[in-house]
Amino acid sequence: MATNITFHEGSVTQEERHQLLKQKGATIWLTGLSASGKSTIACALEQHLLHLGKFAYRLDGDNIRFGLNKDLGFDEKSRNENIRRISEVTKLFADASGISITAFISPYRADREFARELHVASNLPFVEVFVDAPLQVVEERDPKGLYKKARTGEIKEFTGISAPYEAPTSPELHIKTHEVSVEESVRIITDYLLKNGIVA
Ligand code: PPS
Repeated sequence: MATNITFHEGSVTQEERHQLLKQKGATIWLTGLSASGKSTIACALEQHLLHLGKFAYRLDGDNIRFGLNKDLGFDEKSRNENIRRISEVTKLFADASGISITAFISPYRADREFARELHVASNLPFVEVFVDAPLQVVEERDPKGLYKKARTGEIKEFTGISAPYEAPTSPELHIKTHEVSVEESVRIITDYLLKNGIVA
């Protein structure tokens, strides 16, 4: 725990930064089971927002675990810490006027609430998107063969099989990926951002 530290305010306010860069920051938080479609939607959304001229950047659970969070496993405490760090990172991105798109399972409601509260406290938009598909569907997709390994016990604490997933109760958006295409998912999210003045 750090002691004797002092927060230094910058010379530019959040509002001034938004005006100077002509972009408001925001975090679009995708949550859902493995193979629900988070990464696919995040990639397509990032591409779409960049083509609209927005500074958008994707943070993907698998990828971040190669670097920043390489010291973390999949027990509950590690997942809490994983999401705590990403919550802080996305808050910084949003404060810097960036739009980050996160693709983390983020299975615990309390962790997602922590992320939301951090943004709300800094007056930054937080859009929770439940990327939803039934367990049976994601198990059939199983693009990385992880569900198979989880069923045989080769992978322990696998979300949906041997570790919990607490579905959002009131996300800003709920996308059922077994019913809606990737293009439609991107349109739904973009429409929400435009309608709510998050993206101009
Ligand atoms: S979490 O729960 O938010 O901390 O997980 P996350 O950082 O998003 O990482 C999920 C990806 O890690 C792979 N993987 C596992 N997922 C769930 N449970 C266990 N035990 C596990 N072990 C490895 C898997 O590829 C996840 O990626 P996605 O894209 O979700 O399939």
